[in-house]
Amino acid sequence: MATMTADLKIPKNDPLMDPNLKSTIDQIIDDNKARPGATMVVLNELQAKIGFISEPMQDYVAERLQVPISRVHGVVTFYSFFTTTPRGKHTVKFCMGTACYVGGTPQLLEKAKQILGIEPGQTTADGMITMEICRCVGACSQAPVIVVDENIQGKMRPNKLPQALKPVQEQG
Ligand code: FES
Repeated sequence: MATMTADLKIPKNDPLMDPNLKSTIDQIIDDNKARPGATMVVLNELQAKIGFISEPMQDYVAERLQVPISRVHGVVTFYSFFTTTPRGKHTVKFCMGTACYVGGTPQLLEKAKQILGIEPGQTTADGMITMEICRCVGACSQAPVIVVDENIQGKMRPNKLPQALKPVQEQG
């Protein structure tokens, strides 16, 4: 039976505090801990099955796999497909590739922060929208672009953003 370091403070809403999710986490670790590259495999599985990897989960993985906490944190931070908080129902990405950056992504981000009240990497309090930065999505001729869920919207302008975000703000 896996144990936790006694002095770890874990928020009540962390997946580790939910018996079902905790057993899923333990299963993923048990199934993969002997594999080469176990840290990456386990983190991938956790992201896919739990939806995010909280800081206590990262600490727990490090403890169970007996790898330095800094290595686990480093991997989670380096790869943008890992998230440390639950994603919203919808995702709005802002392309930071060169063409989009030059074309006005910083201004779009400022406007989006005003509209949504969050920073990139955060999710609105109602759990509806996660705002993210992404790399070039291959639509440079339409720069600047945002990606609303899977839908690329080009030649975006700050004054067009409220309309572009409205459908995902309203979809329950
Ligand atoms: S730089 Fe944004 S789509 Fe290429």
